[in-house]
Amino acid sequence: MKGIVLAGGHGTRLHPITLGVSKQLLPVYDKPLIYYPLSVLMLAGITEIQIISSPEDLDGFRRLLGDGSSLGISLSYAEQDKPRGLADAFLIAADHIGDDSVALVLGDNIFHGPKFGALLHRTVRNVEGCVLFGYPVRDPERYGVGEVDERGRLVSIEEKPARPRTNLAITGLYLYDNKVVDIARRLPPSARGELEITDVNRTYLERGEATLIQLGRGFVWLDAGTHEALTDAGQYIQILEHRQGVRIACVEEIAWRMGYIDREACFRLGGRMSKSPYGRYIMEVAKNGIEKQPKEMGISMP
Ligand code: DAU
Repeated sequence: MKGIVLAGGHGTRLHPITLGVSKQLLPVYDKPLIYYPLSVLMLAGITEIQIISSPEDLDGFRRLLGDGSSLGISLSYAEQDKPRGLADAFLIAADHIGDDSVALVLGDNIFHGPKFGALLHRTVRNVEGCVLFGYPVRDPERYGVGEVDERGRLVSIEEKPARPRTNLAITGLYLYDNKVVDIARRLPPSARGELEITDVNRTYLERGEATLIQLGRGFVWLDAGTHEALTDAGQYIQILEHRQGVRIACVEEIAWRMGYIDREACFRLGGRMSKSPYGRYIMEVAKNGIEKQPKEMGISMP
């Protein structure tokens, strides 16, 4: 399965902050926002990922993440010259997707919950049709909204309905089989002139090929599209990291734990940032970590 992080848009709800910098490069406590969605794909076992952003912002992502080789993954970059809608991602990334299935994650979405990595890993192995993730929210009218029957099957989906039928938001993580490219190609623009992801999902639903996985209330899903949401997300991450002593969405640690890089390489990545607590954390986990590849390391770490 291939991965896409959609990290474009103008970030207008975050002006003036985003007049000078891309939203997905803004800090969520100790790391750039894009680390969170990127870590979702990495935890799912996806290592070929395309980052899509606006022409003026792509260099910032390249500077931050390079070709991905330091994380043992492959990153490519593609331009979206203007925000034509989320489903435009499949047209832009058609070559990247090739004959494969694909996971799309929005660059401003943060997922955190118990055993999420394992759930993703299981789910991406065999995607037929589409797999969506639902999450109960207080303000469903801000999102794509799903309705399920008594057996938990998805029966309707609407984009930002004025009167939502349920409180089940469709989150910004979507898994598709290869048909998605074709579906996106045939999609007419919506009334607001965008290629809507909800229309793609409805096509799968009408074909009886849409699955919804409901993320429970013990799970955390945040988007960081407004000043309040960005601050809330930062505080949530800060509180949890301080309490538990572990870092959330630390892509360097994930790269090591997933086996994309070895412990020595992980340690070196931390060493490059040793002046920051984030960098020192990486050095620490690489030094003390025991879960993977322990003995054969021929190097000595301080
Ligand atoms: O966050 C989940 C929600 O994301 C879903 O529940 C909705 O169904 C889906 O339409 C989307 O709603 P948003 O209102 O959050 O979409 P927005 O236009 O803000 O775009 C989401 C992110 O994608 C945002 O960070 C900007 C980026 N983007 C957006 C568009 C339209 C692009 O990179 N390119 C685009 O063309």
